[in-house]
Amino acid sequence: MTAPPIRLGINIDHVATLRNARGGVHPDPLRAAKLAVEAGADNITAHLREDRRHIRDDDIRRLMAELDCPLNFEMAATDEMRAIALKVKPHAACIVPERREERTTEGGLDAVAQFDALVPVVADLTDAGIQVSLFIAAEGRQIEAASRLGVPAIEIHTGAWCDALADGRGTDAESEWQCIKEGAQLAHGLGLEVHAGHGLNYETAETISALPEIVELNIGHFLVGGAVFEGLGETVRKMRQAMDKGRQAATQVRTIENVDLA
Ligand code: PXP
Repeated sequence: MTAPPIRLGINIDHVATLRNARGGVHPDPLRAAKLAVEAGADNITAHLREDRRHIRDDDIRRLMAELDCPLNFEMAATDEMRAIALKVKPHAACIVPERREERTTEGGLDAVAQFDALVPVVADLTDAGIQVSLFIAAEGRQIEAASRLGVPAIEIHTGAWCDALADGRGTDAESEWQCIKEGAQLAHGLGLEVHAGHGLNYETAETISALPEIVELNIGHFLVGGAVFEGLGETVRKMRQAMDKGRQAATQVRTIENVDLA
């Protein structure tokens, strides 16, 4: 398949984490979001957690009112978050698992075990015109459950792959990568739009951009952390370049593969 363009979504949660550390208004997640868009982001992601540890309700309201790009609203499948999403009506909603004690979204949503509970949430959000995605591991049974739920998109959790690479666990990294590749192909074959994210940096984003089935990456912590040293505009620009490089390399490989050598 020819690779379609790949979108970059910037997760601004950790700008809010920094703001909340002092309790004031600085640094402002909306300002960061606007700067990220100026630097090449296609959409903004924000996770309103049950405990409001970073993004708050008023941030979502301001992002919806003032952003010129789509907002991807990350949410747990709770009654409270469903009601907020239906009121706010973001472009997209990514349903994630949420545990209060976790530092970040540590695993994918179990769409198999929670199938029945997800049915009405997916239906309500979809009826409201919101594009629903499920944040899941690249496992066949999870992808098939997402497909049966009728969501238009999934986001593959790349955390285990990125952690294995960062820890130098080469065999684990290779098997996680195989799962991501096969999962992206399976999901695409089932008609799902494929996104990916969690733990990505310049290198892993470049590598994964070579998978033609993946059309969106959502990236936060690495870019917000890097902004301390380089500025957010620069980290977003470099990320955009890394993704474009990965995508281009994939397209070239595919073009060469398609040359008739006879
Ligand atoms: N996608 C989803 C669904 C997430 O929950 C997160 C983390 O909040 C990300 C992407 C971004 O992960 P990271 O901050 O590690 O880049």
